[in-house]
Amino acid sequence: MTSPAKYRVGIVGCGAISRNHLEAFAAIPEATVVAVCDVDADRARATASQWGIEHAYGSVEELLAAGIDIVSVCTPHPTHEEVVLAAAAAGAHVLCEKPIAIDLASAERMVAACDAAGVRLGVFFQRRFWPAAQRLRAAVDDGTIGRPILGHASVILHRDPSYYSAAAWRGTWATDGGGVLMTQAIHYIDLLQWLMGEVVEVHGHIATFTHSIEVEDTAAAVIRFASGAIATLSATTAATPSLGVSIRITGETGATAELSEFPEGADGRVTLFARGGTIESEPVQPAGVDPNVDLATINGQLIPHHTAQIRDFVSALSANDGEGREPAITGPDATAALRILLAVYESSRTGRPVTFSREDALA
Ligand SMILES: NC(=O)c1ccc[n+]([C@@H]2O[C@H](COP(=O)([O-])OP(=O)(O)OC[C@H]3O[C@@H](n4cnc5c(N)ncnc54)[C@H](O)[C@@H]3O)[C@@H](O)[C@H]2O)c1
Repeated sequence: MTSPAKYRVGIVGCGAISRNHLEAFAAIPEATVVAVCDVDADRARATASQWGIEHAYGSVEELLAAGIDIVSVCTPHPTHEEVVLAAAAAGAHVLCEKPIAIDLASAERMVAACDAAGVRLGVFFQRRFWPAAQRLRAAVDDGTIGRPILGHASVILHRDPSYYSAAAWRGTWATDGGGVLMTQAIHYIDLLQWLMGEVVEVHGHIATFTHSIEVEDTAAAVIRFASGAIATLSATTAATPSLGVSIRITGETGATAELSEFPEGADGRVTLFARGGTIESEPVQPAGVDPNVDLATINGQLIPHHTAQIRDFVSALSANDGEGREPAITGPDATAALRILLAVYESSRTGRPVTFSREDALA
């Protein structure tokens, strides 16, 4: 694999999150965005003109014909596969927004296509790049927390009803693939698996209480890990105001650490670290907040972390003297996170826990 002096980047989908990709690539000297596309070609043209980008197209095929080294996929969930397959067939590396797909077969086809084409596939879980998340992971690895025994992810968010009505694809099983689990909690499911290891069993329930949507606005689950550790997950977009997110891990040393994201989109912070005879903690929520922070503000706060993940991906392509290495978050990592949340849906439907065979867990 030879590395070009500057990677030519194409962004597919010019909606809300594309701004994070545009800002991130603008901060990375080894890559430059040369083309954007959107099925809404006017939107692609407006984005290109606003960001000074050479080409704007109405289809991924036209974009790929411009000669692209890296494709950034910023389209709705069920469309990720067609874009990733087209990019792989054209020999372009792919960075795909989460969730990788809305079903496992689709995710597996994407991973296989990129493997067969010899291109790298990275999927966004940019919260792994929070310095605080890295600190928690280091405390697991260096034995301060040690092997996790108990985890908890609490995702208590607000979404205005207009969030679901503004984009036609949001809120249905066919076009969104799920609700709070598929769109918001998947980030923290990924953090749990990153911190606690391979998942072997999931038992959960979903419900739709407040929003007029087909998919769930609320979910709870118990997750069991190959190590024997257990974790709970609770998630909703029906809270007013949002209380943000916390991830809490207790390890075999007895130490407990909690990572908080408040407000949503902000840097994660280690807000509690209890070990030996000490508890260091800091308050998370103020007494009063804006109950309905707009999406552009939330996405805007994520830009540094998108940038960190994109920087890792670009440096992975040219690592080891041009041979490349796997990016920090791979297609199989993203498939594993998807498998966990799909198991909550299945368990909720059947009333029974879903157990993964070791083969499933490693696929
Ligand atoms: N990593 C994060 O924290 C984060 C945050 C927000 C959104 N996202 C993800 O980003 C993706 C896009 O979300 P969004 O909020 O930007 O959605 P959006 O609806 O604002 O934008 C999607 C855009 O894709 C275009 N599009 C649809 N199908 C297409 C196709 N086949 N080819 C080209 N363009 C197509 C639409 O016209 C639209 O402009 C989703 O996967 C979402 O989950 C990730």
